[in-house]
Amino acid sequence: MKDLLKLKTSISEEIESILNEQVKIEAHASALYLAMSAWCDDQGLDNAANFFAKQSDEERTHMLKIFNYISDRGGRAISPEVTNIPVDFDSFRGLFETTLEQEMFVTEQFNKIADKCMRAKDFVTFNFLQWFLEEQVEEEYVARRILEMFDVIGEEGTGRWEIDRNLVKVSYDHE
Ligand code: FEO
Repeated sequence: MKDLLKLKTSISEEIESILNEQVKIEAHASALYLAMSAWCDDQGLDNAANFFAKQSDEERTHMLKIFNYISDRGGRAISPEVTNIPVDFDSFRGLFETTLEQEMFVTEQFNKIADKCMRAKDFVTFNFLQWFLEEQVEEEYVARRILEMFDVIGEEGTGRWEIDRNLVKVSYDHE
């Protein structure tokens, strides 16, 4: 019986559980960015609304990538419950501060998972995580560049409009 169970799954319970936690974090991020997109749309900040809608889609893709990985390795992927998504936000700049905080938190989480994989000698999952770690460099970079725009342009007068207009120009092209 023990051997049969071993044949069924090739990830440990510990790794399965921490990956399912990450599925939940990505689902939460996706819902949060979608809420930010709606707020921006309501404020007439069209590019920012598109930026966050795209970000939301990407987070869902991340979620599914991990979800499918758990299943493919014979684990049990859990469809997460997402709660506590705000409707209102304090400020335009605040959205990007929250974004940077969120992405720094996610980077920390992936580092923790990678550390656990190393300790458990799960090099297959460790390898799977590399894509996410690289993705985090890009996500943090973009959030920081946008916050710099707030510092340089400022939100007074037509500043908000100017920042929104320039959002499309921020990209990570270090490949
Ligand atoms: Fe899926 Fe923005 O990390």
